[in-house]
Amino acid sequence: MPSYVVTGAARGIGFEFIKQLSADSGNILFAVVRNKSTATKLAALPGNNITVLEADVTDVKALNAAASEVSKATGGKLDYLINNAALMNHPGFTLDQFPSPEAVEKDLLDHFKVNAVGVVHTTNAFLSLLRNGSTKKVITLSTGLADAEFTVLAEAAGEPSYSISKAAVNMIVAKYAAQFKGEGFTFLALSPGLVNTSISAPTAEELEEHKMLGKAIAKIAPDFKGPITPEESVKMQLEVINRWTVKDTGAFVSHFGNKQWL
Ligand SMILES: NC(=O)c1ccc[n+]([C@@H]2O[C@H](COP(=O)([O-])OP(=O)(O)OC[C@H]3O[C@@H](n4cnc5c(N)ncnc54)[C@H](OP(=O)(O)O)[C@@H]3O)[C@@H](O)[C@H]2O)c1
Repeated sequence: MPSYVVTGAARGIGFEFIKQLSADSGNILFAVVRNKSTATKLAALPGNNITVLEADVTDVKALNAAASEVSKATGGKLDYLINNAALMNHPGFTLDQFPSPEAVEKDLLDHFKVNAVGVVHTTNAFLSLLRNGSTKKVITLSTGLADAEFTVLAEAAGEPSYSISKAAVNMIVAKYAAQFKGEGFTFLALSPGLVNTSISAPTAEELEEHKMLGKAIAKIAPDFKGPITPEESVKMQLEVINRWTVKDTGAFVSHFGNKQWL
């Protein structure tokens, strides 16, 4: 019975991972959320193979407590960790446009803390359980916006702090891969594509980001048909996750299993 931990599972892509995986009653799922009381969509899922646990990915104590709950339920094992939780502010500014040096510094550090340091804390909290698991797969959600070549080609100057923090994620994945390949671990930085996960109308800042992103997309992928649904994205991601092996540990690929980001 494969076991999975998914962070940021209350909504968006994280929720969709739990939803699709829970359809197989042989899977044991641990949905990590920041606030159980507002994770109402998870509670409404029909599967009885889902345990909801609470942890902010910046809170080591809470992550260790969640790992201890998983350990109790699985006999000290975990097969898959999906580091999905992330912060995505949409400041609507490029690096030089923030109103002050303090504002750009805060935006950079806020994203780094959740998206990069949070991934390290989460991975470390579950490492010993993963070691005892049979698949030893750690998937961390990244983005095509963290690809330097794509960024320059597409002139994608928007979402700077988010993109920079996700570029750090790619190196975190490479560092773990370098260390744990010999133990049979597969680490993967996986971009889900451009996925429509928004539940409310965009703010003015988000519209500005969309404009910048739209220009970048038009430049390099003029035939792009628009964002995909969480259902489509997670289905494709699970195919990549299932076929990825230790041989290619440390890679950074898209939901297509290659460098096609859109
Ligand atoms: N959507 C896209 O087009 C897209 C494209 C490229 C990459 N990605 C990546 O895919 C992943 C999921 O994206 P999404 O669109 O589903 O995001 P989303 O809808 O904004 O959901 C983000 C999730 O992360 C959780 N989260 C945020 N900060 C956290 C923290 N400090 N500790 C624990 N959980 C935290 C949120 O919890 P709350 O529910 O409590 O707020 C939420 O459940 C992210 O890693 C993102 O970077 C998405």
